[in-house]
Amino acid sequence: MSEDFIAVAQSKDVAGGSLHRLEVDGKPVILVRVQGKVCALAAICTHEHADLSEGDLEDETIWCPLHSSGFNVFSGEVTSPPAEIPLDVYDVREGEGYILVSRNPRARD
Ligand code: FES
Repeated sequence: MSEDFIAVAQSKDVAGGSLHRLEVDGKPVILVRVQGKVCALAAICTHEHADLSEGDLEDETIWCPLHSSGFNVFSGEVTSPPAEIPLDVYDVREGEGYILVSRNPRARD
């Protein structure tokens, strides 16, 4: 197991269609399972810091509960304003019943 990944949940506890908030090295992160794949993203909206785990998940989009910005769960990109800055995205590994998340977000181009 790589030191850069930490186990954060059991696979059975992350069902499709819901947002799961947790912390990775003290950083708030949300896990979502979409199309069978688990994604991990920063849990705080880049617009005015709302907790996205209190938002809604619709297909591949997380909707912020405060001003309804949309973010793509796979890329973290903004799909609907007012947010302009994408969410950090963390690499995820899943196997043997566990979900592991990278300690650091994926680098952006
Ligand atoms: S705080 Fe999320 S859209 Fe404003």
